[in-house]
Amino acid sequence: MAASNHLFKENYTVSRQEREQLNGHTSFTIWLTGFSGSGKSTIAAALDQWFYKRQIRSYITDGDNTRMHLNSDLDFSREGRKENIRRVAEVARLFNDAGIVVVSSFISPFEEDRITAKAIVGAAHFVEVYISTPLEKCISRDTKGLYAKAKKGEIKDLTGIDSPYEVPSNPDIVVDTTIDTIEASLQIITDWLLENKLQAVAELKL
Ligand code: ADX
Repeated sequence: MAASNHLFKENYTVSRQEREQLNGHTSFTIWLTGFSGSGKSTIAAALDQWFYKRQIRSYITDGDNTRMHLNSDLDFSREGRKENIRRVAEVARLFNDAGIVVVSSFISPFEEDRITAKAIVGAAHFVEVYISTPLEKCISRDTKGLYAKAKKGEIKDLTGIDSPYEVPSNPDIVVDTTIDTIEASLQIITDWLLENKLQAVAELKL
């Protein structure tokens, strides 16, 4: 259903800046993209722990968990993925507005959808991290058994098998978990964040 023309934006009085001040850090979205099995969830968990230990308020949203609830009506067709990414980007926008750092972990294989996500969250608050672990490595790990199922024809539209993955053209950070350990990946990302997004926190809390 199309949005109504009879809606009016309510402007509440506690601003994002005030919430950031209260938390002692800025809020933004770290968007992890890459194949299933590339290491996104492991890196998301490590980041979340890193934030937690520094009293930085953060939260992870990921494909599996979101698709079990908010997005349980969506499939892996082109349209299903597009709507999946649009909704989770809107969720990230809300969390950021509430002053919380979001780690969004989605295959998000289409450049067009990642551009949409960046526009929804706001370019200034969006950090794109490409987990570039090669497909062959993800297939050999096959942590969820999905690649084996796709080979047997039991599931379709699996990214990398019968659905495409478009490599990000201009990511902020690139991590390859076959080269970088989880600790090294975490270091690469957090160094970048300290340099570019977390200066206030560096002074206050680190
Ligand atoms: S996305 O392409 O729309 O961004 P998303 O990250 O939400 O995908 O969901 C991916 C997760 O769904 C994978 O981690 C995997 O566990 C599960 N999954 C089940 N079927 C598929 C499929 N056909 N393609 C990709 N992921 C699938």
